Amino acid sequence: MMKSLLMASLLLLSVNSFAGDIAKGKKLFKKVNCALCHNADGMGKAKNGKIALLKGPQIAGLDAAYIVEQVTAIQGKKRKTKNTSMMMAKVKKLKPAEIKDIAAYVNSLSKTRFVGMLQKK
Ligand code: HEC
Repeated sequence: MMKSLLMASLLLLSVNSFAGDIAKGKKLFKKVNCALCHNADGMGKAKNGKIALLKGPQIAGLDAAYIVEQVTAIQGKKRKTKNTSMMMAKVKKLKPAEIKDIAAYVNSLSKTRFVGMLQKK
């Protein structure tokens, strides 16, 4: 009994460290102003797929892990696609835990899963 309780709480702890906090993410999304380029609903400002410095693609509904991966890559100048320089300046100071929180929030913005630009499925 004690052992399974302990296992369960350990499991909870590890799940928590993976999943970001949606409420915190919402605040950070506002603070960093992701909406400037991705719109407040995360549906993007690029029209007809025309992405530009200030016109980001839809991000609502992307997998949280993919968001973390891409924001981290943009932050570290590792993402080799065009038009990320302005976003880089915006996300430069985010800590890894904050990126996780934002990712959880952005993922929650759409119930329909959205496939990212660099994602295969
Ligand atoms: C100054 C404009 C700007 C801001 C602010 C901005 N982004 Fe972006 N973002 C872009 C552009 C433009 C792209 C597409 C870059 C490219 O061409 O590869 C992009 C790409 C992305 C991608 C990758 C999408 C994909 O399908 O691969 C994610 C995820 C993302 N942004 C999340 C965010 C989050 C979260 C924030 C706020 C913390 C944010 N962005 C703030 C402009 C911005």
